[in-house]
Amino acid sequence: MTMNRYRISALPQLILSILAVPLFFISPGACAAELSITEFINEFTQNYYQQKFLAQTELVKKHGDLVPKAVNQLIEETKKGSKSFEERMFLLNIASAMAYMQRHLHGDSAPLAEVDPVIKEEMEQEKKRNAELMKWKEEERFLGNFVMKQHGKALEEAGLAPVLYPHWKHRLLFECKVCHNSIFRMQRWINRISQKKIVAGEQCGICHNGKIAFSANNDEHCGKCHIAGKPEAEKLHNPDLIDHAEIKQVAERVGAQWHPENLINGRLPVDRFGLIDWLKMKRDNVFVPIASLQNDYKERTRDNKILFISKSNFVNNVLFDHKVHSDWIDCSSCHPAFFRDKLGGNDMKMRDMSKGRYCGHCHGKVSFKFADCKRCHSQPPNEQVDALIRPTMH
Ligand code: HEC
Ligand code: HEC
Ligand code: HEC
Ligand code: HEC
Ligand code: HEC
Ligand code: HEC
Repeated sequence: MTMNRYRISALPQLILSILAVPLFFISPGACAAELSITEFINEFTQNYYQQKFLAQTELVKKHGDLVPKAVNQLIEETKKGSKSFEERMFLLNIASAMAYMQRHLHGDSAPLAEVDPVIKEEMEQEKKRNAELMKWKEEERFLGNFVMKQHGKALEEAGLAPVLYPHWKHRLLFECKVCHNSIFRMQRWINRISQKKIVAGEQCGICHNGKIAFSANNDEHCGKCHIAGKPEAEKLHNPDLIDHAEIKQVAERVGAQWHPENLINGRLPVDRFGLIDWLKMKRDNVFVPIASLQNDYKERTRDNKILFISKSNFVNNVLFDHKVHSDWIDCSSCHPAFFRDKLGGNDMKMRDMSKGRYCGHCHGKVSFKFADCKRCHSQPPNEQVDALIRPTMH
């Protein structure tokens, strides 16, 4: 039975939510002999969560007359305020338990007939919400593809799909510095991107103005960005569908270079995880992205390596190449936002990184994933390497 399965898996969360949101109060002045509806619900709820089955049964046996109203009140309560699915199911599960007992003990199935369809509808809606979530997750399957739908309502009203922003298509032409941090800060959602700003020539509109890239203010192009979830989006997920002639033309227009003749069979190189191997593409001179939209831009790089001595015997030391990173990424993206620029000044732990801190701001989101352990943990303990050695911290 779905109900029971739900109850078990969600129990700890439900208890937490009920503790955080006190829904019912036992009024202190209540008369001892007669139970009010609220007292009845409270007592039943307590017994329910202490799994005192007999006490629940006794309560319903004695106060069967209160059950229809109590069930009704619990259902009404789910509609008040903006309760989460868990909070609503918490109330409905109690109503359902009461209603089952009412049928069993008093032969009255009306409360059950009231609460059952409500639960069915809740589960149905939750399934839909989960499917929706999965759908957008699926649209981000290619590393660095971000679904943008902060204006979900307005998009729906305009009959437009959410936007799919493909990092890789832009990386072919632009270094990270072009956008970060002069156009966008390197964090999702915080730039509050909107059509109004784009059409006014800000954000995406700095380029998507019909000069550097297709215009966002032209009805023919809406579907190029508002494409998430559509079959046409496949070309943004699959680099094998790349149109070299088109990229070459755009590259010339923006001052970048695209040399597909240096690729094998015209295919972008991928690592063993199927992700684009950007450093190989760079070594093979397949692409030369631009560093800025400004002509007088002074590029800054830092040419050294930093060795992280591993705190664990199980993994090699980590070699961080400042040059590889600062070639593409502006100092200000990392310092001080992600790291203090002091040798050994940051206490990095794998645990924090997999939650998106330190190296995890980029790796796993736009750059290669953590599963590729050896790409970072590349230095055996005894091997000589020309690098700054971080003081170890414990
Ligand atoms: C053409 C512009 C552009 C370029 C070039 C670009 N990005 Fe981004 N980046 C964006 C946009 C847009 C966002 C999303 C901002 C938002 O949602 O507010 C973003 C977000 C990010 C984020 C935040 C991820 C998160 O989960 O919070 C990271 C990290 C990032 N970019 C890294 C990079 C790196 C590394 C490069 C170069 C290899 C790069 N970007 C190149 C436009 C760009
Ligand atoms: C620095 C300039 C620049 C910025 C900023 C920029 N783009 Fe682009 N974008 C381009 C260029 C150039 C192309 C290739 C364009 C062409 O074919 O005209 C492109 C291509 C695209 C494509 C691929 C279209 C296709 O069919 O292959 C999408 C989608 C896109 N941009 C969305 C966005 C969104 C959304 C934003 C803002 C979040 C954005 N871009 C910001 C320059 C930029
Ligand atoms: C270069 C990419 C791009 C193109 C082309 C584009 N949009 Fe958008 N649009 C965006 C982005 C990014 C957002 C913000 C998405 C979000 O997070 O909700 C957006 C949001 C919107 C919204 C939501 C409300 C708002 O103010 O943000 C509407 C409506 C919209 N666009 C209409 C259009 C129409 C109509 C066209 C064609 C004339 C179009 N867009 C072309 C990128 C684009
Ligand atoms: C991808 C992120 C990233 C970028 C981009 C970056 N750094 Fe760093 N930087 C680091 C990390 C990581 C450390 C090591 C911090 C530690 O030891 O805790 C570091 C350390 C430093 C240090 C102290 C060690 C040293 O090299 O002397 C300085 C100074 C520094 N960075 C300056 C810069 C400058 C200047 C730029 C731009 C030209 C830059 N960084 C670009 C990540 C970055
Ligand atoms: C601001 C974004 C960003 C941060 C933060 C960052 N990286 Fe990277 N890293 C990149 C990009 C972009 C590349 C190029 C390859 C790619 O995109 O897959 C890269 C490449 C690498 C490589 C491959 C170099 C090679 O020669 O093969 C290593 C190793 C690496 N990073 C380690 C680290 C470590 C360790 C940290 C944290 C101390 C870190 N990165 C933090 C963006 C970042
Ligand atoms: C993007 C680069 C990167 C990748 C990929 C990566 N690590 Fe790390 N890892 C680091 C850095 C940086 C540290 C911190 C080094 C230090 O100070 O001990 C670290 C530390 C560790 C430590 C020491 C204990 C700790 O929690 O800090 C272990 C163990 C570890 N990594 C295991 C792994 C394993 C296993 C993988 C693959 C699943 C992996 N790492 C992938 C960068 C990386």
